[in-house]
Amino acid sequence: MEPKVRIPDPCTIIIFGASGDLTRRKLIPALFRLDWEKLLPQPVNIIGISRAPETHDQFRDAMLESIKTYSKDEIKPEDWKGFSQGLFYLTLDADKPDSYPVLNDFLKKIEAERGTRGNRLFYLAVSPEHYPVIVKNLGQAHLSAPTSKDSWTRIIIEKPFGHDLDSARALNNILSEYCKEDQIYRIDHYLGKETVQNILVFRFANSIFEPIWNHQYIDHVQITASESLGIENRGSYYDKAGALRDMVQNHMLQLVCTTAMEPPSAFNDRSVRDEKAKVMQALRPIAPEDAWEYTVRGQYADGIIDGKTVAGYRKEKNIAPDSRTETFTALKLFIDNWRWAHVPFYLRTGKRLPMRMTEIAIQFKRTPHLVFARTPDDQVLPNVLVLGIQPNEGIEIKFEAKLPGPAIHLRQVDMDFQYEKSFAAAPIEEAYERLLLDALLGDATLFARVDWIELAWAFITPILRGWEMDKSPVPTYPAGTWGPLESDQFLSQDNRRWRESRLTKR
Ligand SMILES: NC(=O)c1ccc[n+]([C@@H]2O[C@H](COP(=O)([O-])OP(=O)(O)OC[C@H]3O[C@@H](n4cnc5c(N)ncnc54)[C@H](OP(=O)(O)O)[C@@H]3O)[C@@H](O)[C@H]2O)c1
Repeated sequence: MEPKVRIPDPCTIIIFGASGDLTRRKLIPALFRLDWEKLLPQPVNIIGISRAPETHDQFRDAMLESIKTYSKDEIKPEDWKGFSQGLFYLTLDADKPDSYPVLNDFLKKIEAERGTRGNRLFYLAVSPEHYPVIVKNLGQAHLSAPTSKDSWTRIIIEKPFGHDLDSARALNNILSEYCKEDQIYRIDHYLGKETVQNILVFRFANSIFEPIWNHQYIDHVQITASESLGIENRGSYYDKAGALRDMVQNHMLQLVCTTAMEPPSAFNDRSVRDEKAKVMQALRPIAPEDAWEYTVRGQYADGIIDGKTVAGYRKEKNIAPDSRTETFTALKLFIDNWRWAHVPFYLRTGKRLPMRMTEIAIQFKRTPHLVFARTPDDQVLPNVLVLGIQPNEGIEIKFEAKLPGPAIHLRQVDMDFQYEKSFAAAPIEEAYERLLLDALLGDATLFARVDWIELAWAFITPILRGWEMDKSPVPTYPAGTWGPLESDQFLSQDNRRWRESRLTKR
């Protein structure tokens, strides 16, 4: 029997940043698809807000174009008609307090006309400097509180959630002044990916892996999130952020938590997020003066990707020619608890690497005694379990097998589960659908909680300080390679090496 699908309460979704890239590329196509799948409530209102003067109809036309451009689905006129009737647009400057009475009046009018019972989801799809202002303006206009005891008001905040510990705390303080924690949904789209959720299913719905999921059997863990793209047109944002802030502080530490957490007592927001917070509390701090020992950074130089010459980072648009921002980082972290004592987690992420790929590789310890290694050719390689997040969505176990023939020679072979083969479909790529739906349903399991955010920044900020103190040149790597040489040396000094790219090609 199919599990019963929950449909959210009738509500109004208010998107600040209606003309922006995120709204056009992700949010509206995701909402349209949810509507098409009959997962949105009826009625639902979607109000887009930005400063550009537009009518409701112009906004609807622009959103139809976005869906046509960014959605793979065919758009039937009757589906669009139903959806577009709930789309509205307000030209407002969200930074100005006097915009909010206008918003309030419009909300009341539209809610009365369409019967959405005062439930509201505010989505902050604007650049981060607006977050505190909008939260404060909403709060002071009494729009952040629920409209009645039977209704809800929630707020989704996009990343980046602060740029260091102090700024993250300042934002959390503003949020907590005007909202309760259970109203706040800090989105990390990685957590909406089915393959990330499948790690939890793999770990906690199968009993055979749990006994070996610890320091007694696992030698180390490698988490890679590589992109072949450069910074595209995000130069002004990226140059202030860099790979550590952009990828590690949020997505990669979430992957660490998903891999390392203890079994939650239930799959609900409290239990899952409690267990993740415990992992963060157990992270061994890296002091600024030790950053060089635990991290590597790099910046891409000119190189070749897919046979095409691409320009180095410092030549990209909106990047200072002497920028020291890292486009690659690798780091080693330890989780000081019973399960993970002395097991290094190696993380690496970067732009302009040879391919787009995210995976978690659990490398097991070698056999204690080499029964079969008789010739130098007979290496007994350790078992590896690879959790493929993208684009090879699946799970692979590597183990030794006997080569056919009279003598005993070994080769590593794969046992391979692929989403596409097993379910006749790739997992839904669109994490925003899942996360929007969860926020509408009031399920915060896949969203970051306040303590997690602060613990993540408390871990990352000293590394950033250490890098600021270090005035030596930032190592470079040719675009299209796996980062600077220092990254390979980083692992070889521990007698380990990164999984090579060819191992990910199935
Ligand atoms: N794009 C992505 O794929 C992506 C992915 C992950 C996270 N994010 C995060 O999502 C947020 C939005 O990103 P984006 O790429 O969509 O940015 P964007 O393309 O620059 O869009 C920003 C939007 O904010 C509006 N805006 C700016 N100031 C405003 C104001 N005072 N009042 C009302 N509206 C205002 C802009 O419209 P007007 O100028 O007309 O007002 C525009 O609609 C950022 O925090 C980003 O870090 C984006």
